Amino acid sequence: TAETKRAALTVLVAAPRGFCAGVDRAIEIVERAIEKYGPPVYVRHEIVHNRYVVDALKEKGAIFVEELDEVPDGVPVVFSAHGVPKAVPAEADQRGLDYLDATCPLVSKVHRQAERQIEKGRHIVFIGHEGHPEVIGTFGQVPEGDMTLVETVDDVATLDFPVGTELSYLTQTTLSVDDTADVIAALEKRFPDIAGPKAEDICYATSNRQAAVKEIAESCDLLLVIGAPNSSNSLRLVEVAERLGTDARLIQRGHEIEESWLEGIGTVGLTAGASAPELLVREVIARLGEYRTVEERQVKTTDERMIFKLPRQLVD
Ligand code: F3S
Repeated sequence: TAETKRAALTVLVAAPRGFCAGVDRAIEIVERAIEKYGPPVYVRHEIVHNRYVVDALKEKGAIFVEELDEVPDGVPVVFSAHGVPKAVPAEADQRGLDYLDATCPLVSKVHRQAERQIEKGRHIVFIGHEGHPEVIGTFGQVPEGDMTLVETVDDVATLDFPVGTELSYLTQTTLSVDDTADVIAALEKRFPDIAGPKAEDICYATSNRQAAVKEIAESCDLLLVIGAPNSSNSLRLVEVAERLGTDARLIQRGHEIEESWLEGIGTVGLTAGASAPELLVREVIARLGEYRTVEERQVKTTDERMIFKLPRQLVD
């Protein structure tokens, strides 16, 4: 009957969720660059991994490219939040391009740590996901061969360094907090003298979003994570729920949700990766409301007040 169709669905909305300070800043850099220089402004790589955000900026006059050689001379270019290898700003300088660096300050912090470890004569074991632009950017801070990537505990077993090699480890900012702790433990067991960063490299936004999912996962029959398939921090949120035995799905837009997903389900959890705008959270809740009577509840585990400064060129 129509009545059962409209049966109540509890939606537990995790907080914090969605945009982090680094994403906020990166988007604002593109918007302000368009205002200051006029369109088009080029952006190397998706400014953040979210199609909705990228399309909205395209509409305002941004042009997205993968490599610097696709940027014509004489127009400004923005580097994405994930960071770039040193060779990229060097090439921009050489070509006399005006560039704006939207690299998240928390990623830049890891870049500087990498440089410092190399200055100390150490080889770096970097914990991260192969092929992710942040990993490519961080590897590009040090001479080739001075950094080795590991993704898993199993990878640690395969490491082999010449006797006397001094080691240190660093990590990507958007990893699973729990998995990374295991990889670090394995590294410290194999290489008792390995040096680590003073403070965790996994960023506050990544760990807060994972903690918020942990808080609601066991009360949910299904967790929906709004995020792109190439968004590392979003994928980790799906994993966190699955580890706790809760089915989880990564979605990009509300219309992807099918009525069959909600069969026999009383409570849905909802969160969004660091690059997904709040507008998409509202869109998803509206979609759920097409099938069921939604009772929305926010579950907040912590407050976030982080704000990052804009690059000097954009502040008058
Ligand atoms: Fe920065 Fe973390 Fe966001 S590294 S871009 S604050 S997910």
